[in-house]
Amino acid sequence: MNLKQKYGNTALVAGASEGIGAAFATRLAAEGMDIVLIARRLEPLQQLADLLKNKYNINVRCITCDLSGTNATQQIEEELNGREISLMVYNAALSYIGPFINNSAENHSQAAQVNMMTPLNMVQFYGEKMLARGKGAVVLMTSMAGFQGSGYLSVYAATKAFNMILAESLWYEWKTSGVDVIACCAGATATPGYKNTHPEKTGFLTPRVLDPEEVADECFKKLGKQPSFITGRGNRLASFVMQKIFSRKMAVNIMGDNTRKMYRL
Ligand SMILES: NC(=O)c1ccc[n+]([C@@H]2O[C@H](COP(=O)([O-])OP(=O)(O)OC[C@H]3O[C@@H](n4cnc5c(N)ncnc54)[C@H](OP(=O)(O)O)[C@@H]3O)[C@@H](O)[C@H]2O)c1
Repeated sequence: MNLKQKYGNTALVAGASEGIGAAFATRLAAEGMDIVLIARRLEPLQQLADLLKNKYNINVRCITCDLSGTNATQQIEEELNGREISLMVYNAALSYIGPFINNSAENHSQAAQVNMMTPLNMVQFYGEKMLARGKGAVVLMTSMAGFQGSGYLSVYAATKAFNMILAESLWYEWKTSGVDVIACCAGATATPGYKNTHPEKTGFLTPRVLDPEEVADECFKKLGKQPSFITGRGNRLASFVMQKIFSRKMAVNIMGDNTRKMYRL
């Protein structure tokens, strides 16, 4: 059974114009699902929409929406006007790299809104409808930074831990209802967002940088089978060492030291 047969006709990807979000949308389109693409910039969304429509003969709807708005979920719903969403991927995230104290309270709360409050609202809204139908799926993007304190990524890391725990909890609550939930925990992935940060290699415990398509492929293989997963063998190994072998203190120190070196802080 493919994803369309299992969950239904339409997938929504929030944060879809490039990187991992575009890879998710492409993978879902290849399964024959109609797609709702969401991001702030219309042009890249439309380019992707044209490509997917031509290649897979599906319907694609583009919605421009700033997911940091407190009414983002209502705005999306007004545009969709009750249309059924069978599978939802919340991929968008805002990350500030640098000392916590150098960033404004406004920026921190904007990150909390994009990374936590909007996915929470969207999961509540679309999850309820999926439960009523007895089928559906939710993917929340998380990060290896969310496994322990991550100096210089503090707010981002904390929001990613939130998504991990939310997805795993809902996986448990909904596992017999026909609605699958998974936390997709990515390590470094070669997206425009990642490349724009110009990270330097740190040498220690740095696994291979994955392609966005690898992340999306692996996620749909694991969806319905487990509450969360880490992308790629190298990331799983690094995580095993950090979480199971090193002390918590050591893991927090390594994470902070690596980020400091990567971004020359
Ligand atoms: N790349 C990595 O190395 C890495 C590692 C671990 C985890 N992750 C996670 O994977 C996910 C995707 O990462 P990525 O590197 O692919 O991100 P990205 O390249 O920065 O792309 C993010 C997508 O979200 C959209 N977006 C960002 N802010 C938005 C907002 N306020 N409202 C609406 N749309 C917004 C962007 O389009 P617009 O700019 O047009 O809005 C873009 O389509 C994130 O959740 C991230 O935490 C990534």
